[in-house]
Amino acid sequence: MSLLAHLPQSPQHTAVLSNTDFQQLRQLIYEKTGIYFQDNKRYLLESRVGRRLNELGLPDGRAYLQFLQNGHARDEFRHLINAITINETYFFRAPAHLEVLEQHILPEWARTKRLVRIWSAGCSSGEEPYTLALFLRDRIQPRYPYMRFEIIGTDINTEVLQQAQQGLYGEYAVRNVPPTYLQRYFIRRGNHYQLREEIRKMVRFQVLNLADMAAMNAMRHFDLIICANVLIYFDDNMKRRVVQCFYRSLVPGGYLFIGFSETLYGISQAFQPVRFGKTIVYRKEGEASESNTQRHG
Ligand SMILES: C[S@@+](CC[C@H](N)C(=O)[O-])C[C@H]1O[C@@H](n2cnc3c(N)ncnc32)[C@H](O)[C@@H]1O
Repeated sequence: MSLLAHLPQSPQHTAVLSNTDFQQLRQLIYEKTGIYFQDNKRYLLESRVGRRLNELGLPDGRAYLQFLQNGHARDEFRHLINAITINETYFFRAPAHLEVLEQHILPEWARTKRLVRIWSAGCSSGEEPYTLALFLRDRIQPRYPYMRFEIIGTDINTEVLQQAQQGLYGEYAVRNVPPTYLQRYFIRRGNHYQLREEIRKMVRFQVLNLADMAAMNAMRHFDLIICANVLIYFDDNMKRRVVQCFYRSLVPGGYLFIGFSETLYGISQAFQPVRFGKTIVYRKEGEASESNTQRHG
C-alpha cells in the first residue's frame, strides 16, 4: 500500500517536506533548471514530490534528498523534472503570432532568405512547433515555394518530448485546429488525432535545459525563437540569463516571440520591441542579411 495513502488529505496536513527540506529541494531545482517554486507554490512541489516518494517507497523529503544525492542523482533528476514541470499547451495557442509572421515578417524574409531556422524553446508535447509547421506548409510554402524551413522543438521534460515525436493528440489539444487542417494533416485514431508524417518530419525534437549554458551556447543562427509561457517559471535572474542566450542565438534582424502575458521589461534592453497591431515581438538589431542563404547554399 502507498505510504502517502496514510497521510491526511487537507492542504495543511499534506506536507511531505519539512521547511528545511523544502528550501533545500527548491534551491536544487532552481540551480539545475531555473524553475523557482515561490512559497505559495509549495503545495505543488509537495504533491509532485509526494508522488515520487510513493513510487520509490521513501518515507519523507529527507530520505528523498538523500536518494537524490546518493549516486541516483542523474536518473532521479530526470524523473523529478518530468514530475514538476507544467506542460500545458495546445495547437494554435497564439494565432496573433502567425498573423504577424504571415503579414509582416515572412514577406521581408522572402526577399532575402532561402532558409529560415526556427526554435520553439520549451515546446512541451510539440503543439507549438507543429502549429508552425502546419501554418508554413498550408499558407506559406505555396506562396514562397523556394523557401525552406527548419523547425527545432526543445524541452527539458523527456516524457513530453516522447509524446511530441509520436504526434498523437487528444481532443483537448486539437480543439482550435481549423477543420480543414484536421482533415488534411491529421489521421483519426479512435478519439485521438495523429499528425501525418509530412508534418511530423518538419520538426526535430531535442532535450535541452534552458539553464544549461553550454547547451544554450551551441544553439546558433536562428531567425526566430519562440519561447512562450516558459520564462514565467523562472526568477528575474534566470530570465535575464536565458534571454541573453536567445539574443546570441539569433541572427542579426532575428525575432524573439514570448507569451502574451509576458514582457521583457526589466529583463533585457538589447532587443527592440516591435508592435504589430496589438502584438509585441522582439527584434535583435541589425540588418536581416542573406547569411543563411550563403551559409547553407
Ligand atoms: C507551459 S509549457 C509551454 C508550452 C508552449 N511553449 C506553449 O506556450 O504552449 C512550459 C514548458 O517549459 C518547459 N520548461 C520549463 N523549464 C525549462 C527549462 N529549464 N528548460 C527547458 N524547458 C523548460 C516545461 O517542461 C514545459 O513543457
